[in-house]
Order: sequence, then C-alpha cells, then structure tokens
Amino acid sequence: MALYSEKVMEHFMNPRNVGIIEDADGVGEVGNAKCGDIMKMYLKIDDEVITDVKFETFGCASAIASSSMATELIKGQKLEDAMKLTNKAVAEALDGLPDYKMHCSVLAEEAIQAAIEDYKSKSGKTE
Ligand code: FES
Repeated sequence: MALYSEKVMEHFMNPRNVGIIEDADGVGEVGNAKCGDIMKMYLKIDDEVITDVKFETFGCASAIASSSMATELIKGQKLEDAMKLTNKAVAEALDGLPDYKMHCSVLAEEAIQAAIEDYKSKSGKTE
C-alpha cells in the first residue's frame, strides 16, 4: 500500500489557500516541538463566519496536505463549527494518514483554534 493516499498527494502537490492575509482578523501559529514544523493560519471573519482563510506551513507533506484540507473545510463555516474541527476529521477528509503522521494533522486543528482565539481576544469576545 502506498504511504499516502491520492488525496494527501494531491493536496501536497497542489495546496489550496496558501499565503497570508495582510489584514487578517485572527492569526494562529503553532508548532510541533518534536519535528520542528510550524503552521500559521490567517482568518478573515465577518459576522462570526470565516469568509477567507490562508496558511503558511513549514513542514512535512502531511502537514501541508492537512493545512490545505483544513482550510477548505472551514471556509464559509461559522466560528463555533470551525472550532470543533478535529484532526481526525481532517485526516479522514484526506482518506487517512499513516499513524505516525497523525500528529501533523493536529497542527491544523490547533492552528485554527489559535487563530479563532486570537480573533476573540482582539475583538474582546473571550468568555
Ligand atoms: Fe512534523 Fe509532520 S513531521 S508536522
């Protein structure tokens, strides 16, 4: 069996939503201490809905594919729904990741949550 699914390869070779949003409403940056990979998410938010999202990932193929898929999944979503996106859901949408690469999808989950938290604290919406 191939190490990566076709979807992982496709998102790695042709990642969606790469880049930065200069006037982002929320920015989240997370890293994995073990592998040293870093992921940064930028969100544009209008009326509690994610209207645009971009990412920069300095990491492995799984991390890049996970960021790409995660951005596709949360675009157009309400903040409360995007907040619930799990790394498992990202990996499933990619038709699976090898076990030892699951931590790469965790970066996507954490980066989105960090960006939403950043938005909330900037807009004074933290509970
Ligand atoms: Fe570090 Fe994949 S090996 S995120």
